[in-house]
Amino acid sequence: MGGQKRSGCLIVLEGIDGTGKSTQIALLAEVLRQDGLEVVVTREPTEGVYGQQIRRLYQNRESVSRHEELALFLADRREHVEKVIAPALEQGKVVISDRYYFSTAAYQGAVGFDPEDIIRQNELFAPVPDLVLLIELTPAQAVRRIEQYRQESLNHFEQEESLRQVAKVFASLHRDYLSRVDGSLDVGAVHAQIVAQVNSCLVAKQIRCSGNVSCQVKARWLCHDPIES
Ligand code: TYD
Repeated sequence: MGGQKRSGCLIVLEGIDGTGKSTQIALLAEVLRQDGLEVVVTREPTEGVYGQQIRRLYQNRESVSRHEELALFLADRREHVEKVIAPALEQGKVVISDRYYFSTAAYQGAVGFDPEDIIRQNELFAPVPDLVLLIELTPAQAVRRIEQYRQESLNHFEQEESLRQVAKVFASLHRDYLSRVDGSLDVGAVHAQIVAQVNSCLVAKQIRCSGNVSCQVKARWLCHDPIES
């Protein structure tokens, strides 16, 4: 599916729990929308049947085997791609997803599956993103944030030692379209790094001004030519 033609743009935020993905996604979506882009914000696990089953697993991860768990994440993603991601990309929208198959590579990779194998399995049905922003934070910092800001105890996917393993797999992943973001900085500084990366990606995809004659600018901040209003 990777080479399939599409007109939208798929941006994914990844990272261990507590890295601030949802805060950053809200900020990013806001600036893109202000610039006139049509943005779809989505996340995994989804709210669909498989996603709900996965959320129940947070309470008792031992109730299913690792293989069943992996199958649930794949089923959830298949549904997500079919119902949300692929249609939005076909309509030329910018899709921002909070987690995608790199989470499966990292989290299920951390419990014994081969991360590259997981990526291959996913790419049989899931579009390859235009940009993956991996927000990096040490597991100790991430756990401190989860406890401070969410006032929650950690679920099974989030125990510090598990996060250490997950972070290790994330650290081993390298792709041309994958950029690392320093998540230890303040919210504004992280946002600035993200906007810079997204900007380059949208320029590369030509989701920007096409010229003076019939200016189709969709994002003012990407426009290379002066706009006459
Ligand atoms: P999380 O982003 O915390 O979801 P929410 O905040 O909406 O509850 O994701 C839930 C957990 O699921 C998280 O600890 C990572 C894990 N996860 C996987 O193990 N594999 C996957 O493929 C995905 C998408 C998530």
